[in-house]
Amino acid sequence: MVNRATSTLIGLIAAASAVTALKLNPTKPIESDTTSFFGGRDASILQHPADWSRDIQPIGVHSHNDYWRDTPVLDALAHGVRSIESDVWLMNGELYVGHDPYSLSPERTFESLTLAPLRKAIDQANDANALLSSKSEAAFFKPLQDQLRTNTTLPWNGFYTAGVGNAAPIQLLVDLKTEGRRTLEATIEALRPLEQKGYLTTYKDGKITKGPIVVIGTGNTPTDALAALQSRNIFVDCPLGKLSEDFQIEGQAYAYNSTLCGIASTSLGSLAPGYKGLMDPSADVVSNLTKAIDDAHSRGIATRVWDTPVWPSFVRDRVNGLLLSLGSDWINADDLDAIQKW
Ligand SMILES: *[C@@H]1O[C@H](CO)[C@@H](O)[C@H](O)[C@H]1NC(C)=O
Ligand SMILES: *[C@@H]1O[C@H](CO)[C@@H](O)[C@H](O)[C@H]1NC(C)=O
Ligand SMILES: *[C@@H]1O[C@H](CO)[C@@H](O)[C@H](O)[C@H]1NC(C)=O
Repeated sequence: MVNRATSTLIGLIAAASAVTALKLNPTKPIESDTTSFFGGRDASILQHPADWSRDIQPIGVHSHNDYWRDTPVLDALAHGVRSIESDVWLMNGELYVGHDPYSLSPERTFESLTLAPLRKAIDQANDANALLSSKSEAAFFKPLQDQLRTNTTLPWNGFYTAGVGNAAPIQLLVDLKTEGRRTLEATIEALRPLEQKGYLTTYKDGKITKGPIVVIGTGNTPTDALAALQSRNIFVDCPLGKLSEDFQIEGQAYAYNSTLCGIASTSLGSLAPGYKGLMDPSADVVSNLTKAIDDAHSRGIATRVWDTPVWPSFVRDRVNGLLLSLGSDWINADDLDAIQKW
């Protein structure tokens, strides 16, 4: 006598073996090249306009000493890094990029090592966009695209797409190593081609026009000379923790604000002198950092704390985690693989 439960079980086993019998039993292995089904890697069905930076997660990381990478700028962009840095040295009217005067070479100019790859990256993003809008089959989707447009939708594509027609800008810190005023002049001139393409965030008569790249002068950048310009393609790295101290231009006091300061930075040591990250921070450390970060944010200025520990990794990660939890905007990184996985 077979009871009900047993007969159900037998039924299930029968069904399962039927499924097993139906299993695909390919006589040759499935093609390892998954594109051949569509006609190969270059088949048009596999191309889509927003292709260039897919899979890259843009991160609020500053790639310190970017020119040390094998392919400066492009390595950082491929890691999703949104902020890069070049140290520039003025010599006979040309800007060279390097850590110190012994690491300079005639070939490694600001134009060739930093600006040309940046221009290429943004060109690529915007050419794809132009190609898209000139194709009649793409215009077919215009009603759907228009639904996404808002009055804040920007007229360009940044390198990273965060939604159609919108982008997270790339930040370029230029650390002026030689005499401030002349190096600033040369930097502003070197940036002209990018500016003329509409790729730079610019300031004119009190108004900011956004672009896919924002350039910020640091190092010897003369804040007073730069603040006096009514039109410029560069902003200042202002002193985090000291934004309430005014600065002088020809005897007159000026306040730091977001049309001048692209960012506010300082070292960890200047805000919390004894804190090395080996232990959890004291309430005083947290309070010092919070005050500086909140003060910058209340002025609409993003923050970066540098000279943070890089080793051992648990100390590095504790300090980075602390800064992020307090709302600091940019995390410094030398090891891009580690920070991307973090
Ligand atoms: C965009 O601006 C126009 C005119 O300036 C206005 O009529 C429209 O409502 C705005 N649209 C949105 C989505 O804010
Ligand atoms: C911001 O600061 C700059 C430089 O000090 C000054 O020229 C400008 O008028 C200020 N803008 C505002 C809105 O206060
Ligand atoms: C907090 O900042 C003050 C200066 O503003 C400094 O004297 C003090 O040592 C700092 N506290 C800590 C714990 O780092």
